[in-house]
Amino acid sequence: METRKKVLSAIQPTGNMHFGNYFGAVQNWVNLQESYDCVYGVVDYHAMTMPYNPKKLRENVWELLFNLLAVGVKAEHLFIQSLVPEHTELSWIFNCFCSYGQLSRMTQFKDKSQQSKQKADDSFISAGIFDYPVLQAADILIYKADFVPVGKDQEQHLELTRNIAERFNKQVGKDYFVLPETLYTELPKVMSTADPTRKMSKSAGEKHYISVFADEARIRKQIKSAVTDTGDQVAGVMSAGVQNLFNLLKASGRLDSYAGLMADYDHDRLKYSDLKAAVADGLVTMSNQFKERKSEILANKKEYKNQIKASSAAIRKQAQQTVQEVKDLAGLANVKY
Ligand code: TRP
Repeated sequence: METRKKVLSAIQPTGNMHFGNYFGAVQNWVNLQESYDCVYGVVDYHAMTMPYNPKKLRENVWELLFNLLAVGVKAEHLFIQSLVPEHTELSWIFNCFCSYGQLSRMTQFKDKSQQSKQKADDSFISAGIFDYPVLQAADILIYKADFVPVGKDQEQHLELTRNIAERFNKQVGKDYFVLPETLYTELPKVMSTADPTRKMSKSAGEKHYISVFADEARIRKQIKSAVTDTGDQVAGVMSAGVQNLFNLLKASGRLDSYAGLMADYDHDRLKYSDLKAAVADGLVTMSNQFKERKSEILANKKEYKNQIKASSAAIRKQAQQTVQEVKDLAGLANVKY
């Protein structure tokens, strides 16, 4: 029997998926399903670490799941974190195998607590936000993942995860946990078309992201108004805006058109209107497939929700097994299920 390596990744629930999320992560999740044993979580426990709205959280979780299904993630690989409460149990145990000093050096914590402080009306910083990487370590180690496909910004959290695993292994005197590795794939970094010096993101406002489910007219309009040259270009260096359009074209799979237009660029005869038309066609074609699939899902919501609940329950079995073994090793009271 073929034994596939295990991949674990997770994403925080936010409504609306844009091409930055899709090309920068989710498309990779879809592709990895072919060669790995994949488990993908929608991590709602993580989403409580910043001030949030409970009703909105639950809505966002389902919205994200429907979106993931619509773009090609398989239901059997998906789970909702709060339907696998063993993550929090393991995370408590890991708290006791995690160095306070190391946790306080996490840059994401420093950034996020800084953000909270700047919002004058809400300077509350939860202990959860500090402890967040320990829960993340539990997400990963509970499934004994070999690989975690994440971006550079998560490297520090992966390092912490390995340190927790090593400390646990050492203390219980057994090489119990696999040390997970980051799985790097060359992924396009999608910039805002309205300001190609910043990442495409929802938080920057409406014009800074393009939803993968947007109307065709809106996608075309956003690409048409994409910033290309700002006039202060260095001769011979491609501007950030043009680079971003080429990246989007390549990411949307239009390789012939990419090669042709790149040749035009090299010969100084590229018309931005041609580049934009090609990018818009590429994105619209993808978006149309996603929208079709999404409307089928929305018409059968209940069935899809049940599928996710069932896959969460199946995935939970693996998590229960790990927690059982961990409690045994850690000297905690333990009844066999
Ligand atoms: N911290 C990740 C992020 O901000 C989300 C996440 C939570 C995660 N648990 C994880 C990613 C486990 C990979 C593996 O994007």
